[in-house]
Amino acid sequence: MSLENQPPPSSLPDLTGRADIERLVDTFYGKVRQDELIGFIFNDVARTDWAAHLPKMYAFWETVLFRTGNFSGNPLATHARLVPLTTMGPPQFERWLALFTATVDELFAGEKANLLKASAADIANVLHTKINKLPPTPFDFSQLTPEQRAHYASQKPKQITP
Ligand code: HEM
Repeated sequence: MSLENQPPPSSLPDLTGRADIERLVDTFYGKVRQDELIGFIFNDVARTDWAAHLPKMYAFWETVLFRTGNFSGNPLATHARLVPLTTMGPPQFERWLALFTATVDELFAGEKANLLKASAADIANVLHTKINKLPPTPFDFSQLTPEQRAHYASQKPKQITP
């Protein structure tokens, strides 16, 4: 049997629309959820509602790639909220990007696939830089547990010596 007319095993399709975005996003978050460095941020810190998050991410990437404009959200604020709760540093962003890039390369190849990887890298960079430069969220005494409150109440104010 001749293999002449068959594409080489490494040739993958490029992304052409919503169905491809959905496959990409589902596969990517399948990896993220199991990742030992960043999985718990979704599972335990943010307690992500996947039924809501996945469609939001379809809309986000569809907007980035195909300019559909159907995403509404505030990624900067969403990620900034995680900063006081967990580490959102270079290793976490690098892992996120490595998983994203690996997912794109596993499923797609071409101009849109390249644009997707470059956009993800750019956005990761902006998010990482901005959220870690924001001032820390104000200390909110009312949010403390009774134990924490007792602990802080027992602390003497620092002596300010000239
Ligand atoms: C350390 C890396 C990252 C972590 C741990 C992370 C985690 C999260 C979490 C926990 C949420 C909220 C999900 C929920 O509703 O519970 C979220 C939302 C989101 N993430 Fe990330 N993320 C990371 C990097 C990125 C990057 C690099 C991008 C884009 C390239 C991105 C795009 C988004 C978008 C668009 C949303 C929805 C924002 C909104 O609802 O306003 N994330 N992310």
